[in-house]
Amino acid sequence: MPTDLDERPWPSEDNSRIPNWVYSDPDNYRRELDRIFYGPFWSFVGLACEIPEPGDYMRSVVGEKSVLVTRSADGEIGAVLNICSHRGLEVCRDKFGHGRELMCPYHQWTYDLRGDLIGVPFRRGVKGKGGYPRDFDPADHGLRRLRVETVNGAVFATFDENAPAMRDYLGEEIWARLTRVFDGRALEVLGYHRQRVRANWKLYPENMKDSYHASLLHVFLISFGLYRIDQKGELLQDPRTRAHNVVSSIRNDLDDVAGTEEMRSLKRDFQLNDMRPLASVKEYDDDVTIQIVTMFPAFTVQQQNNLLQCRNVVVKGPEEFELVWTFFGYAGDDADLRRRRVRMANLVGAAGLISIDDTEVFEFSRAGMSANPDRNCVVELGGRGIEPPVAGDMVSEGPIRGFYDLYRRIMYDRRS
Ligand code: FES
Ligand SMILES: [Fe+2]
Repeated sequence: MPTDLDERPWPSEDNSRIPNWVYSDPDNYRRELDRIFYGPFWSFVGLACEIPEPGDYMRSVVGEKSVLVTRSADGEIGAVLNICSHRGLEVCRDKFGHGRELMCPYHQWTYDLRGDLIGVPFRRGVKGKGGYPRDFDPADHGLRRLRVETVNGAVFATFDENAPAMRDYLGEEIWARLTRVFDGRALEVLGYHRQRVRANWKLYPENMKDSYHASLLHVFLISFGLYRIDQKGELLQDPRTRAHNVVSSIRNDLDDVAGTEEMRSLKRDFQLNDMRPLASVKEYDDDVTIQIVTMFPAFTVQQQNNLLQCRNVVVKGPEEFELVWTFFGYAGDDADLRRRRVRMANLVGAAGLISIDDTEVFEFSRAGMSANPDRNCVVELGGRGIEPPVAGDMVSEGPIRGFYDLYRRIMYDRRS
């Protein structure tokens, strides 16, 4: 196989084939970090309600780089690279903290929460001797700032000043769905899950775009008739990039069984003993029961009945990632609604009866793909193009092809 990434063949001009080496190759992964995670694209770094007070900060990650999301004295949210300008240490090791300044443990260079260097020990030397050169200017050595945009409480960051504003980045249709959940009400975090997955990070956004598997892999869901592919729904793609998308569905009546013949696991006489994790109340003006918004490259926000969660992929190498789940609600929720949201984590969470299947199959994917980099995935359901499926058609891999359309344009210089 040629070593130059730009010379390596993709099996087809269109995106109906994805070569397996894309999921394991270290050079390809390093280029993803440079061009995607450190390029003009946005990463989710947390919720503003996690750092509610001036002086609060939290550790987050963009690509593989540790960043600190801070709320400075004026209440403004910012993000800085979490490495000391002196000798490259991670300045802060705590997940959450509060204070007026950040002090590096090694030589105690001290920064304010905007990243400005405000203290340098022995700057003038000891007893008038030594110290830093006269022209040493702390203003040149602050922490590297990232660009930040907060969308109704969800905080996004990018290293690239040229990234478009978030609304423009997502496009109107996806923006409307994102702000259906982040609608301006104050948010509150209900809890976190974190899990390590030994597989390539792209499998996660692909899975979130993959309406095909939902009615086939998730045996729990299907056995009890809780989701079916014949449900009314929508696959929406940002028409410009094709890489941000929404999967949404409206639940049918349970006794409407048309179109379920191919779903072998449906057990019409199965019933759950405890239906409470499924018991939901209507919250939004529409009848959408599941809405999954996937933002390029690797952030998802999901509403499933009353469950609300961010799912953020943190890359850890070509064949490992961490999935960080942030369960949230609105600050004004009453105790009953809060309880409903938390109970649903039994279905959709790191060990959820539904979502546990996804991370398990990713590891099976890694086993197959890693050992067979010369083989290709076939992504032809719903056609070979990147056009969105016709309205109401939920059985399409079009959004996955859309993801790779943008991905290839970013990643490889000689192919379109
Ligand atoms: S490495 Fe941070 S102060 Fe020296
Ligand atoms: Fe799934």
